[in-house]
Amino acid sequence: MPHTARQILVTSALPYANGQIHIGHLVEYIQTDVWVRYLKLNQHEVYYVGADDTHGTPIMLRAEKEGITPKELITRVWGEHKRDFDAFGISFDNFYTTDSPENQELSNEIYLNLQKNGLIAEREIEQYYDPEKEMFLSDRFIKGECPKCHTPDQYGDSCEHCGATYAPTDLIKPYSALSGATPIRKKSLHYFFKLSDERCESFLRDWVQGLAQVEATNKMREWLGEGAEHKLSDWDISRDAPYFGFEIPNAPGKYFYVWLDAPVGYYASFKNLCAAKNLNFNDWVKADSTTEQYHFIGKDILYFHTLFWPAMLKFSGLRTPTNVFAHGFLTVDGAKMSKSRGTFITADSYIQTGMNPEWLRYYFAAKLNASMEDLDLNFNDFIARTNSDLVGKYVNIASRAAGFLVKRFEGRVLDSAMNVELLQTLRAAQSNIGALYEARESGKAMRAIMELADQVNVFIDSNKPWDLAKDPAKTDELHAVCSVCVEAFRILSVYLSPVMPNTAAKAYAFLNIGAQNWDDVHTPLQSANAINAYSHMMTRVEDKQIDALIAANKTEEAAPVAIAAPTKAAPAAAESNIIGIDDFVKVDLRIAKIVDCQAVEGSTKLLQLTLDVGEATTRNVFSGIAAAYKPEDLIGKLTVMVANLAPRKMKFGISEGMVLCASGNDDGLYLLEPNAGAQAGMRIS
Ligand code: 2FM
Ligand code: ZN
Repeated sequence: MPHTARQILVTSALPYANGQIHIGHLVEYIQTDVWVRYLKLNQHEVYYVGADDTHGTPIMLRAEKEGITPKELITRVWGEHKRDFDAFGISFDNFYTTDSPENQELSNEIYLNLQKNGLIAEREIEQYYDPEKEMFLSDRFIKGECPKCHTPDQYGDSCEHCGATYAPTDLIKPYSALSGATPIRKKSLHYFFKLSDERCESFLRDWVQGLAQVEATNKMREWLGEGAEHKLSDWDISRDAPYFGFEIPNAPGKYFYVWLDAPVGYYASFKNLCAAKNLNFNDWVKADSTTEQYHFIGKDILYFHTLFWPAMLKFSGLRTPTNVFAHGFLTVDGAKMSKSRGTFITADSYIQTGMNPEWLRYYFAAKLNASMEDLDLNFNDFIARTNSDLVGKYVNIASRAAGFLVKRFEGRVLDSAMNVELLQTLRAAQSNIGALYEARESGKAMRAIMELADQVNVFIDSNKPWDLAKDPAKTDELHAVCSVCVEAFRILSVYLSPVMPNTAAKAYAFLNIGAQNWDDVHTPLQSANAINAYSHMMTRVEDKQIDALIAANKTEEAAPVAIAAPTKAAPAAAESNIIGIDDFVKVDLRIAKIVDCQAVEGSTKLLQLTLDVGEATTRNVFSGIAAAYKPEDLIGKLTVMVANLAPRKMKFGISEGMVLCASGNDDGLYLLEPNAGAQAGMRIS
């Protein structure tokens, strides 16, 4: 199919150079890599660049703690990151560093152009300063007593105990988290990017219209405010020495804040690649460039990529991003990744455990879509899906047919079988699967591919090559059936290749063909080219591998201090169950009045409760308390419900929440009841 090659620059967010790559990072790198590989298979001119994000206070302090220089630290971490990306098949065309001459030059250039355009302001601000460490302290390095609930040792921006937010100056008895010294207030000159300037605001209002994700557009509108309401504040882009970063031109002792030079690092990495490949960097970044530019990021850094970065580019005379694609956060088995639970899984531990990186690539691809929804790595689902889809459906096709083809037909396909209806169906799916990849709907693409694999397996089951092989009169039929299978396997391998490049390469070697492009699905295998003997292509995930992975990631470091001696009813496992106030406030607990209660026909366990929680309509809730209560005894009582639980479809109807019960070692269930005075709808905190 003739097409016009597009020129596309793609990036993933730059990982900080003070920590290891973990599976949370990998969601993004895998998502980007799948997209890039798909576009490259379509022979577009695509460059995928990354770099380590190396500047800032945490990196400087980490190096100090390790007794090495920041440069030594970032050099070591770069090697670790590169190792991990290579292991997971992340195909960066260049993986560089923000601590590079290209980045310094570009950051300076952008800054000076913004200044020339009247968009840099200088203002004196007052901040906390650690007189012992002789440095200014950002909010995260100041601690003190919460001004609201008086809990000690709270951070400078919010209280982990009561959730209050405040300025660091509001803290009672503040101290430096670095030295313990009492900070003093000190003035210093700072440099600001004038994002509040009318030009920035009107440009961004216009630019937001082109964003691909409706959630991103809505967020941007919220930040920008409605109509004439002025919402954007100027952005403080300078930090005082000591700071590991680039000194601001003509401002001795002042450094670019890490978030100023980090996105410029995308361009610096690309510029470095351009020099190596003899590409014209300016053609890609000049204001009227016809090339495309996409940034894959996590939703937490949308602000930097949809406000600061496009405005920086625009007003320094450069092109702006074509689009920004944000993804959601990763949870593991339904919870935030946790070091104490062993679910903060590093990329390296995954490899060291001997697990196949393409299992994870496939699993994430199967769960990802174009939205910012969070996604969950559920280990049972991971094992089931990987084994069933990849081994049971896909690889199985080759293993079921190859033996006969090699033993009986010298490994040569029957050319006349290469256009049967099943193969036509497989090839016809190419444009739909391609469109899904392009739209970052990889989950839907994986489902479409597995549906095709199902059809091929049905074909094998109904033609039974193992029976055909027993009947000499059916030799031709056997030849045709096995030929269709290996050709189907080839087509499926092409479809899966953006996600599983290594497995696809093994498949091509087995089929004795070269690397395939997207359009090669239409070029069948030929009898002239004998396939090789089948050798095992992928093993199954085993439960014990997951156990080993979790064990390898369990650290003592994060085990919280026991608050009280565990009681009989509260087993010692409590350590991994401790949550912060942020987690607790997510649960919307309310007083509910049981306005009606009925037995459920067909169930001995459930009662159907009609609850008034102070809303316009009542809630319907099914609860497994039939053994403990008679319906009529509950009517009119108050209880406690979780009001923001996702509705659950049950056999008897939809349950819109959950009532809370106590239970102990006996069989009893005790519905919670508030003290007198509580009213339906009251919130519980
Ligand atoms: O949030 C982070 O991990 C940052 N290091 C991402 C930087 S992305 C880009 F702007 F450089
Ligand atoms: Zn508090």
